[in-house]
Amino acid sequence: MGLNVIMMGPPGAGKGTQASRFARERGLVKISTGDILREGVKDGNQEILAAKAKMDRGELVDDATMIAIVRQRLLKADALNGFVLDGFPRTVSQARALDRIMEERRNGPLVIVDVVVPDSELVRRLAVRRICSNCGTGADPFGAQTTCKKCGGVLVQRDDDNRDVVLERLKIYQKDTKPVLEFYRGRNTFRAVNGEQPPEVVARELDSMIDDASGLGVKRTQHSDESADRNAPPA
Ligand code: AP5
Repeated sequence: MGLNVIMMGPPGAGKGTQASRFARERGLVKISTGDILREGVKDGNQEILAAKAKMDRGELVDDATMIAIVRQRLLKADALNGFVLDGFPRTVSQARALDRIMEERRNGPLVIVDVVVPDSELVRRLAVRRICSNCGTGADPFGAQTTCKKCGGVLVQRDDDNRDVVLERLKIYQKDTKPVLEFYRGRNTFRAVNGEQPPEVVARELDSMIDDASGLGVKRTQHSDESADRNAPPA
C-alpha cells in the first residue's frame, strides 16, 4: 500500500518546506502544483503561460487545467507507490476530482495534513522569502545567504510575494480553500499541526501524525535527495 499525503494550509504556512523534507526522508515523490506552474512558465508552456497573469494576481488557475495536470502526474509510475502533494486541492471541486483519481489508483488511503499558521506570521514570512531565480530553490529564512546554495543563482522575491498579492492570496484561501478543509475534516485520516513552531518541531509532530493517520507504521528509508528534488520546492 502506498503512503499518499496532501499538505494543506495557507500561503506561507510551510507546506512546501515540510512536503520536500517528508518526501525526501520517506523516498516519496513530491508534487507541488505551484512548482509545476512556475516551471511551465519558465519552459514557455502555452497553456500555463496563459495562466501566469492569474498567478501574478494571486488568483487560482482554473480547476480543469489543475485537475488535468495533477491527474496526469499522479498516474505516472513514480507516484504509484505514494506521493506528497503540495498546493492541491485548493477548491472543493479539485478535492472531489482527487477522490476520483485515488479510486483509479486504488493504492492506499489519503492522509490530509493542515498546517495551521496565523495570518500575521504568514505575511511576515512571505515578505522575507527569497528564492533562486535559476532553479527555484528557497533560501534558508534563518540564514544570511546572498546566492543559491544549490546552483549559485541570484536570490529574488517570488512574483506573487509582494504585500498586496499576498493579501489577495490570503483572501482567496479563505474563500475557496478553507471549504476544502471542511470537506476533509470528518475523515479519520485528517490531522492538523501547529505550523507556528520551529520547522524541526513541526516536522516531528507531522511525522507522527502521518504515521498514525496512515496506520501503516511506514518504515523510514533514507533516500538520495534525487527523488524529492525532481520537484524541488521554491521555498
Ligand atoms: P503555491 O506555489 O502553491 O503557493 P502557496 O500555496 O501560496 O504556498 P507558498 O509556496 O507561498 O507557501 P508554503 O506553504 O509552501 O510555504 P513555504 O514552505 O514556501 O501556488 C502559487 C500560485 O499557483 C497560486 O497562487 C495559484 O495562482 C497557483 N496554483 C497552485 N496550485 C493551484 C491549484 N491547485 N489550483 C489553482 N491554482 C493553483 O514557506 C514559506 C516561508 O516560510 C519560506 O521562506 C520558509 O523557509 C519559511 N518557513 C517554513 N516553515 C517555517 C517555520 N516553521 N518557521 C518559520 N519560517 C518557516
